[in-house]
This record gives sequence, structure tokens and C-alpha cells, in this order.
Amino acid sequence: MSARKQTDPGDAGRPRVTLTDLRARKSAGEKFPVLTSYDATTARWQVEAGVDVLLVGDSIGMCVFGHESTVRVKLSEMLSACGAVRRGAPSAYVIGDMPFGSYHNRLNEAVDHALAFVADGGCDCVKLECDGRMADVVAAMDRANVPTMAHLGLLPQRITYTGSYKATGRTAEDAERLVADAIKLVDAGAVMLLLEAVPAETTQRVTDAVGVPVVGCGAGPSCDGFVVVTNDLLGLTPGRTPRFVPKLADLGPQMRDAFAKYRQDIAAGAYPAPEHLYPMRKD
Ligand code: KIV
Repeated sequence: MSARKQTDPGDAGRPRVTLTDLRARKSAGEKFPVLTSYDATTARWQVEAGVDVLLVGDSIGMCVFGHESTVRVKLSEMLSACGAVRRGAPSAYVIGDMPFGSYHNRLNEAVDHALAFVADGGCDCVKLECDGRMADVVAAMDRANVPTMAHLGLLPQRITYTGSYKATGRTAEDAERLVADAIKLVDAGAVMLLLEAVPAETTQRVTDAVGVPVVGCGAGPSCDGFVVVTNDLLGLTPGRTPRFVPKLADLGPQMRDAFAKYRQDIAAGAYPAPEHLYPMRKD
């Protein structure tokens, strides 16, 4: 079969981004942006802006469903969100985040759930919060042809143990463990790594040790890609956001002001105005 790239009718005919493209970006030293995405409309705008790697993160639990942590997110909710993002951004490389409890129990069940991310959710890859002990899960997914991104460092699903979110890999011992875990997971078949809240020095050791693209979320400059939560970047998250988030818009207050104007216009009788009415036909 000749080498032909998969294309989709959406996204103005843009070719679909593949793992091969991401590996090529890494080899060329071309750093790439990654953003979280939870719905078709946002995904469409993200791709239009040139952000073509989208993570349907379980941060949807806080950003969309109003939970306090990610552990309440259900598999069915993640699959619906992945489908929406895929429909909004047919050309994007879409990574689906496997939710709490969906890959920890039986290996077969974990693989079935990962397959659903590809077959039902339209994902290119699944992300698992891991340490070295999860290498058998990564290997099982690799055997089933589901590419995995191993998420290391701060693992928000471990909130059940930690009770709070803290940076990791900050001591020489922790850094050693992280590097060893990263190598083990890549050897097991992980096609990408995500490092969350890790000191730049530790990240550098990981990026030196593995050949796969490494995406950082507060993990310093040596990563190949960089991800932040879209709601944080857009200024939609109330309260403090992590220190590594570039706040590039202030959409929360803008939304509030638009909603308030709508309310005021209705109260004042300024809405609906003549231009909002359907005129009767002349006859
Ligand atoms: O769910 C999420 O948003 C994540 C972050 C690391 C970006 O996993």
C-alpha cells in the first residue's frame, strides 16, 4: 500500500495529525502546543488557531461538571467528550484521558476501555496516570494497538492518597524514581510521556533518557510539547491557577458582563428590539 495520509472532510481539508508527525516535530526540535478540550466548539477554535494536539482531560470533572477533583469523572462522560472534540476537530491528534478506576482493575477490562476511546471516542491515543507498576497495563494496550501516553509526576487521581496537589520529583531520590519509571513505561510501549509539576532539572533527565515526545504540564522548558488546562489559560477558572499557566485572556469576567447586559436589556425592554423580530410576510 502506498503511503497516504488519512484526511477528514472537516477542518478545511487539513490532514490528520499523526504520531509520526509528533515524532518528526520532536526530531526537528519543533516545540508543539497542546491544550485540554472538552467540546466541539472549543476544539474547532483551537485547531483554527493552529493548536492541533488536544487532550480531552479528566479535568473536565472540574471545568465542566463542577466536581472538586477528577475522581468522580465517568468513562461514559469521557467518551462523549472525546467524540465531541473529534467531531469539532477532525484533523487534530486527540488524546483521551482514562478516568479514575477505568484501567486499574482487570487488564482485559482496561484494554476494553482503552479500545472504546479509539473506536467510540475517535481518539488517537489514551493517557494513563502511571508509575512503573503500570507497565503491564501499558504493554497490554500496546498489544491491542492502542497507543498510550504515560502521565508521570503529579497524579491528580492519587488525591485519594495525597489529599492535595504537590509537585513531585524534587529530591534526587524522587528524580531517580521518576526517570526509572519513565524508562520502564517507554520500554513497555508508551508512545509519549506527560510530566506534571516536575522541576525542570528532573524533566531534563527524563527527556535525555527517553526517545519519545515528552509533553510538560508545569515541567520546564526541555519538553517537546506543553499543555495547560484551557479554562485556566482563558481566565475562566475562579481563584488561583497553577504558577506555570499563562493567563492569556480574561473570559470569565467578559462572560459575566455579557450575561448581565442581557439581563439588563430584558429588564429595560431594550431586548427584543425590532431587528430581533420575524416580520410577517407582506401578503
Ligand atoms: O486532565 C487534565 O487536564 C490533565 C492535565 C495534565 C493537563 O491531565
